[in-house]
Amino acid sequence: MSILDVKIINDYIRTITDGWEQGWHERNGGNLTYRMTKDEVAACRPYFTEGGAWVEMGVSAAHLGGEYFLTTGSGKFFRNVCLDPVHNIGIVEINPEGNAWRIVWGLEGGARPTSEFPSHFMNHAVRVKATNGACRVIYHAHPANIIAMTYTTPLTAKAFTRALWQSATECPVVFPGGVGVVPWMVPGGADIALATSKEMETYEAAVWAHHGLFCSGPDLDITFGLMHTIEKAAEIYNLVLATGGGKILATISDENLRAIAKEFGVTLREEFLDN
Ligand code: 13P
Ligand code: ZN
Repeated sequence: MSILDVKIINDYIRTITDGWEQGWHERNGGNLTYRMTKDEVAACRPYFTEGGAWVEMGVSAAHLGGEYFLTTGSGKFFRNVCLDPVHNIGIVEINPEGNAWRIVWGLEGGARPTSEFPSHFMNHAVRVKATNGACRVIYHAHPANIIAMTYTTPLTAKAFTRALWQSATECPVVFPGGVGVVPWMVPGGADIALATSKEMETYEAAVWAHHGLFCSGPDLDITFGLMHTIEKAAEIYNLVLATGGGKILATISDENLRAIAKEFGVTLREEFLDN
Protein backbone atom coordinates (compact mmCIF):
# COMPACT_ATOMS: atom_id res chain seq x y z
CA MET A 1 0.00 0.00 0.00
CA SER A 2 1.03 3.56 -0.64
CA ILE A 3 -0.85 6.85 -0.37
CA LEU A 4 -1.22 6.66 -4.15
CA ASP A 5 -3.62 3.73 -3.61
CA VAL A 6 -6.03 5.93 -1.63
CA LYS A 7 -9.05 6.69 -3.84
CA ILE A 8 -9.13 10.47 -3.37
CA ILE A 9 -5.44 10.77 -4.28
CA ASN A 10 -6.10 8.76 -7.44
CA ASP A 11 -9.17 10.81 -8.35
CA TYR A 12 -7.27 14.06 -7.72
CA ILE A 13 -4.38 13.03 -9.98
CA ARG A 14 -6.80 11.87 -12.69
CA THR A 15 -8.56 15.26 -12.63
CA ILE A 16 -5.21 17.04 -13.06
CA THR A 17 -4.27 14.81 -16.00
CA ASP A 18 -7.70 15.39 -17.58
CA GLY A 19 -7.16 19.15 -17.30
CA TRP A 20 -3.75 18.84 -18.93
CA GLU A 21 -5.27 16.80 -21.78
CA GLN A 22 -7.89 19.52 -22.35
CA GLY A 23 -5.08 22.02 -23.01
CA TRP A 24 -5.98 24.20 -20.04
CA HIS A 25 -2.59 23.96 -18.26
CA GLU A 26 0.32 25.22 -20.33
CA ARG A 27 3.60 25.09 -18.39
CA ASN A 28 2.65 25.57 -14.70
CA GLY A 29 -0.69 27.23 -15.51
CA GLY A 30 -3.61 26.49 -13.21
CA ASN A 31 -3.98 24.91 -9.79
CA LEU A 32 -6.37 22.59 -7.93
CA THR A 33 -7.24 22.34 -4.25
CA TYR A 34 -9.50 19.85 -2.51
CA ARG A 35 -10.76 20.01 1.10
CA MET A 36 -10.47 16.46 2.42
CA THR A 37 -13.14 14.61 4.39
CA LYS A 38 -12.31 13.23 7.85
CA ASP A 39 -12.27 9.67 6.43
CA GLU A 40 -9.90 10.71 3.63
CA VAL A 41 -7.56 12.36 6.12
CA ALA A 42 -7.62 9.17 8.23
CA ALA A 43 -6.81 7.03 5.17
CA CYS A 44 -3.84 9.27 4.30
CA ARG A 45 -2.58 9.93 7.83
CA PRO A 46 -0.30 6.83 7.98
CA TYR A 47 1.73 8.42 5.18
CA PHE A 48 1.95 11.90 6.73
CA THR A 49 5.35 13.26 7.66
CA GLU A 50 5.93 15.34 10.75
CA GLY A 51 4.39 18.71 9.90
CA GLY A 52 6.77 21.35 8.54
CA ALA A 53 6.88 24.97 9.69
CA TRP A 54 3.63 26.99 9.66
CA VAL A 55 3.54 29.51 6.80
CA GLU A 56 1.17 32.47 7.06
CA MET A 57 -1.16 33.05 4.10
CA GLY A 58 -1.95 36.76 4.41
CA VAL A 59 -5.65 35.87 4.56
CA SER A 60 -7.63 34.03 7.23
CA ALA A 61 -10.84 32.07 7.76
CA ALA A 62 -11.31 30.71 11.26
CA HIS A 63 -13.97 28.18 10.18
CA LEU A 64 -11.36 26.39 8.02
CA GLY A 65 -8.98 25.98 10.96
CA GLY A 66 -7.82 22.35 11.25
CA GLU A 67 -8.88 21.39 7.70
CA TYR A 68 -6.59 19.46 5.33
CA PHE A 69 -6.25 20.39 1.64
CA LEU A 70 -4.79 18.59 -1.32
CA THR A 71 -2.96 21.19 -3.40
CA THR A 72 -0.87 21.43 -6.52
CA GLY A 73 2.62 22.86 -6.13
CA SER A 74 3.64 26.35 -7.17
CA GLY A 75 5.52 26.37 -10.48
CA LYS A 76 4.72 22.69 -11.04
CA PHE A 77 3.45 21.41 -14.38
CA PHE A 78 0.09 19.55 -14.45
CA ARG A 79 1.51 17.22 -17.11
CA ASN A 80 4.13 15.92 -14.66
CA VAL A 81 1.82 15.20 -11.72
CA CYS A 82 0.85 11.63 -12.68
CA LEU A 83 4.50 10.72 -13.28
CA ASP A 84 5.85 12.15 -10.03
CA PRO A 85 3.11 13.02 -7.51
CA VAL A 86 5.28 13.55 -4.40
CA HIS A 87 7.22 16.42 -5.98
CA ASN A 88 4.25 18.10 -7.67
CA ILE A 89 1.29 17.85 -5.29
CA GLY A 90 0.88 17.67 -1.51
CA ILE A 91 -1.38 17.83 1.50
CA VAL A 92 -1.35 20.87 3.79
CA GLU A 93 -2.89 21.21 7.23
CA ILE A 94 -4.41 24.56 8.23
CA ASN A 95 -3.60 25.85 11.74
CA PRO A 96 -6.42 26.21 14.31
CA GLU A 97 -6.63 30.00 13.71
CA GLY A 98 -7.14 29.46 9.94
CA ASN A 99 -4.35 31.75 8.77
CA ALA A 100 -1.37 29.47 8.05
CA TRP A 101 -0.57 26.12 6.40
CA ARG A 102 2.07 23.46 6.88
CA ILE A 103 2.96 20.55 4.61
CA VAL A 104 2.12 17.09 5.98
CA TRP A 105 2.64 15.03 2.80
CA GLY A 106 4.20 15.53 -0.65
CA LEU A 107 5.59 18.77 -2.13
CA GLU A 108 8.99 17.15 -1.60
CA GLY A 109 12.25 18.82 -2.55
CA GLY A 110 11.33 22.27 -1.26
CA ALA A 111 8.08 22.71 -3.22
CA ARG A 112 5.29 24.93 -1.88
CA PRO A 113 1.52 25.06 -2.40
CA THR A 114 0.29 26.98 -5.45
CA SER A 115 0.95 30.73 -5.40
CA GLU A 116 -2.84 31.05 -5.68
CA PHE A 117 -3.37 29.24 -2.37
CA PRO A 118 -4.68 32.47 -0.75
CA SER A 119 -7.33 32.73 -3.51
CA HIS A 120 -8.20 29.06 -3.22
CA PHE A 121 -8.41 29.30 0.56
CA MET A 122 -10.68 32.36 0.57
CA ASN A 123 -12.85 30.83 -2.16
CA HIS A 124 -13.18 27.66 -0.07
CA ALA A 125 -14.06 29.86 2.91
CA VAL A 126 -16.98 31.58 1.18
CA ARG A 127 -18.21 28.55 -0.83
CA VAL A 128 -18.25 26.34 2.30
CA LYS A 129 -20.57 28.93 3.88
CA ALA A 130 -22.66 29.43 0.71
CA THR A 131 -23.23 25.67 0.31
CA ASN A 132 -23.71 24.66 3.96
CA GLY A 133 -20.39 22.81 3.91
CA ALA A 134 -20.91 20.96 0.61
CA CYS A 135 -18.17 22.72 -1.40
CA ARG A 136 -14.85 20.85 -1.41
CA VAL A 137 -13.13 21.81 -4.67
CA ILE A 138 -11.63 25.01 -6.07
CA TYR A 139 -10.16 24.67 -9.56
CA HIS A 140 -8.25 27.36 -11.47
CA ALA A 141 -7.41 26.82 -15.15
CA HIS A 142 -6.30 28.81 -18.20
CA PRO A 143 -8.80 27.70 -20.89
CA ALA A 144 -8.16 29.69 -24.09
CA ASN A 145 -11.74 30.48 -25.08
CA ILE A 146 -12.96 31.95 -21.81
CA ILE A 147 -9.77 34.06 -21.70
CA ALA A 148 -10.35 35.20 -25.30
CA MET A 149 -13.90 36.25 -24.37
CA THR A 150 -12.49 38.69 -21.80
CA TYR A 151 -11.12 40.76 -24.72
CA THR A 152 -14.46 41.05 -26.55
CA THR A 153 -17.19 40.95 -23.91
CA PRO A 154 -17.97 43.59 -21.26
CA LEU A 155 -16.36 42.50 -17.99
CA THR A 156 -19.59 42.12 -16.06
CA ALA A 157 -21.26 39.08 -14.56
CA LYS A 158 -24.43 39.81 -16.52
CA ALA A 159 -22.72 40.08 -19.92
CA PHE A 160 -20.67 36.91 -19.41
CA THR A 161 -23.51 34.90 -17.93
CA ARG A 162 -25.94 35.79 -20.73
CA ALA A 163 -23.37 35.14 -23.47
CA LEU A 164 -22.54 31.72 -21.97
CA TRP A 165 -26.17 30.74 -21.23
CA GLN A 166 -27.09 31.56 -24.83
CA SER A 167 -24.15 29.61 -26.30
CA ALA A 168 -25.43 26.13 -25.43
CA THR A 169 -28.83 24.96 -24.20
CA GLU A 170 -27.42 22.98 -21.27
CA CYS A 171 -25.58 26.00 -19.81
CA PRO A 172 -28.48 27.53 -17.86
CA VAL A 173 -29.10 24.08 -16.37
CA VAL A 174 -25.45 23.56 -15.35
CA PHE A 175 -24.86 27.06 -13.92
CA PRO A 176 -28.25 28.70 -13.32
CA GLY A 177 -26.64 31.11 -10.84
CA GLY A 178 -24.31 32.52 -13.51
CA VAL A 179 -20.63 33.42 -13.37
CA GLY A 180 -18.85 36.34 -11.74
CA VAL A 181 -16.08 38.42 -13.29
CA VAL A 182 -12.95 39.78 -11.61
CA PRO A 183 -11.23 42.63 -13.49
CA TRP A 184 -7.55 42.27 -14.38
CA MET A 185 -5.43 42.14 -11.22
CA VAL A 186 -1.95 40.98 -10.28
CA PRO A 187 -2.27 37.25 -9.52
CA GLY A 188 -0.93 35.37 -6.53
CA GLY A 189 -1.71 37.54 -3.52
CA ALA A 190 -4.26 38.58 -0.94
CA ASP A 191 -5.88 41.36 -3.05
CA ILE A 192 -6.99 39.09 -5.90
CA ALA A 193 -7.96 36.45 -3.31
CA LEU A 194 -10.34 38.86 -1.59
CA ALA A 195 -11.76 40.21 -4.89
CA THR A 196 -12.39 36.66 -6.15
CA SER A 197 -13.95 35.43 -2.93
CA LYS A 198 -16.29 38.44 -3.03
CA GLU A 199 -17.60 37.16 -6.40
CA MET A 200 -17.70 33.61 -5.07
CA GLU A 201 -20.11 34.68 -2.32
CA THR A 202 -22.65 34.95 -5.14
CA TYR A 203 -21.36 32.75 -7.97
CA GLU A 204 -19.91 29.24 -8.12
CA ALA A 205 -17.47 30.31 -10.84
CA ALA A 206 -15.48 33.49 -11.44
CA VAL A 207 -13.69 34.62 -14.59
CA TRP A 208 -10.31 36.32 -14.16
CA ALA A 209 -10.01 38.88 -16.95
CA HIS A 210 -7.19 38.08 -19.40
CA HIS A 211 -6.07 35.20 -17.17
CA GLY A 212 -8.45 32.28 -16.62
CA LEU A 213 -11.33 30.84 -14.66
CA PHE A 214 -12.04 29.67 -11.09
CA CYS A 215 -14.69 27.00 -10.52
CA SER A 216 -16.00 25.52 -7.29
CA GLY A 217 -18.04 22.45 -6.50
CA PRO A 218 -18.85 19.60 -4.12
CA ASP A 219 -16.59 17.05 -5.83
CA LEU A 220 -13.93 16.75 -8.52
CA ASP A 221 -16.31 15.53 -11.27
CA ILE A 222 -18.87 18.31 -10.82
CA THR A 223 -16.18 20.99 -10.63
CA PHE A 224 -14.29 19.69 -13.67
CA GLY A 225 -17.63 19.44 -15.49
CA LEU A 226 -18.41 23.07 -14.69
CA MET A 227 -15.02 24.20 -16.05
CA HIS A 228 -15.57 22.06 -19.17
CA THR A 229 -19.11 23.35 -19.76
CA ILE A 230 -18.16 27.02 -19.36
CA GLU A 231 -15.11 26.67 -21.61
CA LYS A 232 -17.08 24.83 -24.30
CA ALA A 233 -19.77 27.53 -24.25
CA ALA A 234 -17.03 30.16 -24.60
CA GLU A 235 -15.62 28.23 -27.57
CA ILE A 236 -19.04 28.22 -29.26
CA TYR A 237 -19.49 31.93 -28.51
CA ASN A 238 -16.11 32.76 -30.06
CA LEU A 239 -16.81 30.54 -33.09
CA VAL A 240 -20.16 32.27 -33.62
CA LEU A 241 -18.59 35.74 -33.48
CA ALA A 242 -15.66 34.72 -35.72
CA THR A 243 -17.64 32.84 -38.35
CA GLY A 244 -20.48 35.35 -38.34
CA GLY A 245 -18.21 38.38 -38.67
CA GLY A 246 -19.35 39.59 -35.24
CA LYS A 247 -23.06 39.27 -36.04
CA ILE A 248 -25.40 36.95 -34.16
CA LEU A 249 -28.45 36.13 -36.32
CA ALA A 250 -30.23 33.74 -33.96
CA THR A 251 -29.91 32.96 -30.26
CA ILE A 252 -31.64 31.39 -27.27
CA SER A 253 -34.18 34.03 -26.20
CA ASP A 254 -34.99 34.98 -22.63
CA GLU A 255 -38.32 33.22 -23.10
CA ASN A 256 -36.41 30.08 -24.14
CA LEU A 257 -34.14 30.40 -21.09
CA ARG A 258 -37.17 30.61 -18.80
CA ALA A 259 -38.68 27.54 -20.50
CA ILE A 260 -35.44 25.56 -19.95
CA ALA A 261 -35.38 26.58 -16.28
CA LYS A 262 -39.02 25.48 -15.82
CA GLU A 263 -38.47 22.12 -17.53
CA PHE A 264 -35.27 21.31 -15.59
CA GLY A 265 -36.43 22.74 -12.25
CA VAL A 266 -33.63 25.27 -11.84
CA THR A 267 -33.87 28.92 -10.80
CA LEU A 268 -32.05 31.33 -13.11
CA ARG A 269 -30.63 34.54 -11.70
CA GLU A 270 -33.62 36.71 -12.60
CA GLU A 271 -31.74 40.04 -12.76
CA PHE A 272 -29.73 38.67 -15.70
CA LEU A 273 -32.85 38.13 -17.82
CA ASP A 274 -34.00 41.10 -19.87
CA ASN A 275 -37.62 40.41 -20.75
P1 13P B 1 1.23 28.26 -9.62
O1 13P B 1 2.25 27.52 -10.45
O2 13P B 1 1.85 28.95 -8.44
O3 13P B 1 0.09 27.33 -9.21
O4 13P B 1 0.60 29.42 -10.51
C1 13P B 1 0.00 29.13 -11.74
C2 13P B 1 -1.10 30.08 -12.06
O5 13P B 1 -1.99 29.74 -12.81
C3 13P B 1 -1.10 31.42 -11.45
O6 13P B 1 -2.32 32.06 -11.61
ZN1 ZN C 1 -3.42 31.30 -13.37
